[in-house]
Amino acid sequence: MRSYDLAELLLTELHRADNPHHAAPLNRRLYQTLRSTILGGHLTAGTQLPSTRDLARDLDLSRNTVMSAVGQLVAEGYLTAQQGSGTYVSDALPDQRPLTPANSSRARQAREADANPRDLSQRGCLLTQSSGSAQYEVQPFAPGAIEFTEFPIQLWQKLQAKYWRSLDRNLLDYGQEGGYMPLRVAIAQYLTLSRSVRVTPEQVLITSGTQQSIDLAARLLTDHGDEAWVENPCYWGARRALQAAGLKLRPIGVDAEGIAPSATDWQGNPRLIYVTPSHQYPLGHVMSLPRRRALLEFAARRRCWIFEDDYDSEFRYTGRPYASLQGLDEHAQVLYSGTFSKVMYPGIRLGYLVVPKDLVPAFNTGLYDLYRPGQLMLQAALTDFITEGHLNTLIRRLRVAYQTRRDVLARHIQQCLGDRVRISGQDSGLHLCLVFQDPGVDDEAIATAADAQGMTVRPLSRYSIGEPHRQGLILGYAYVPTERVAPWAKKLCELIRQALD
Ligand SMILES: Cc1ncc(COP(=O)(O)O)c(C=O)c1O
Repeated sequence: MRSYDLAELLLTELHRADNPHHAAPLNRRLYQTLRSTILGGHLTAGTQLPSTRDLARDLDLSRNTVMSAVGQLVAEGYLTAQQGSGTYVSDALPDQRPLTPANSSRARQAREADANPRDLSQRGCLLTQSSGSAQYEVQPFAPGAIEFTEFPIQLWQKLQAKYWRSLDRNLLDYGQEGGYMPLRVAIAQYLTLSRSVRVTPEQVLITSGTQQSIDLAARLLTDHGDEAWVENPCYWGARRALQAAGLKLRPIGVDAEGIAPSATDWQGNPRLIYVTPSHQYPLGHVMSLPRRRALLEFAARRRCWIFEDDYDSEFRYTGRPYASLQGLDEHAQVLYSGTFSKVMYPGIRLGYLVVPKDLVPAFNTGLYDLYRPGQLMLQAALTDFITEGHLNTLIRRLRVAYQTRRDVLARHIQQCLGDRVRISGQDSGLHLCLVFQDPGVDDEAIATAADAQGMTVRPLSRYSIGEPHRQGLILGYAYVPTERVAPWAKKLCELIRQALD
């Protein structure tokens, strides 16, 4: 099919008034439209797609947008990319059904199914209504994204290869409840020294990251309809997991001292409180000591649980790292969660949850029965990575690199935008938050404009529950290699300045 024929077909579909994905970002819409076109048989097996450059030109989209949609379809098996010769529609759909001509009943069914997914549960609908994650591609300034120039890949390969060579059959099994014990020992030591967490190795459970830790805590400690407090604005991942567990979320405001319950809130009776005390996500405030004490006393009085998400505290650029909330807890009300997503890489899917001693047996059982553990080879390699000192070395190196990137970005923001914005949360972590002084600014529109220029910035308003009080942008600086930060920062700041003018 020629580029402009396909472009015409796609343009018609993309702009159809009843397109069910019309509210989604462009790359997502293009992905859905291309996928429907393939499923509907309009693009048959073996058809070569025009180059992404030609498609971008004919659709009047950025090449990044087109590459993101095409890349996703390649990853899912709808398209096949052949090095040097182009991209083709695959011979079989990812579920192995052969592709069918446009007018067959199967093609019609596929088209209808795509437009009207069959009944989801209420929980399923709630969960998928506005997914926070899939709408963004990884581009400069994508929060949470990192790049790997500092990561010691060869060393990591070597550590993993050692265990695969040994072919210890025990490491191919599900493993013990709670995870690989040597890793739990190493994490307990690390947390005691670096985060003042009060912990024994038995209290450390190895999970597949924060998301699973929240899910597990919510399932074991709360019932459907219980109230959970979340910070407002709040990390979307926590919000999704708590909602999916059937909790009623009560958004609690945030000020410069962290979560800030009102007098009425303090009268409430939550079952669980989710907080990010070391670096509030997304605003970046550190919870003050008086606020920590007040929260802990409240939790002890109400006998409710606090979930402390300590997702990025390894990267503190000024002063000493703050001690954990868990370390101050006298009544064993706090569950402390950490992740290797930031210090290693997000796809490693390894994290840990420290639970109070009396909860250890229940959490071991829950973890084992609900999710089935495993990944012991990876856990063993990670243990060596920590005990041989490589993790600390990596953190030190990353801290220097990220601090430099943050400084460059912050300097450009100050020079270009001056007092029209306030920077918040830049003392630690991998992102900073730009808050617009003028509340009338449309942060969604700026994010869309940035996406069209190949940058991913997240609108602050999207993290609010209910009417947003602030407009701003969350800017991640860990994904842009140090030498590339300045040109990207300049481009972004100019775009923002134009939007503010
Ligand atoms: C507040 C917060 N917690 C946790 C995580 C990491 O989650 P996970 O460990 O599931 O990758 C992130 C990732 O961006 C985050 O922003």
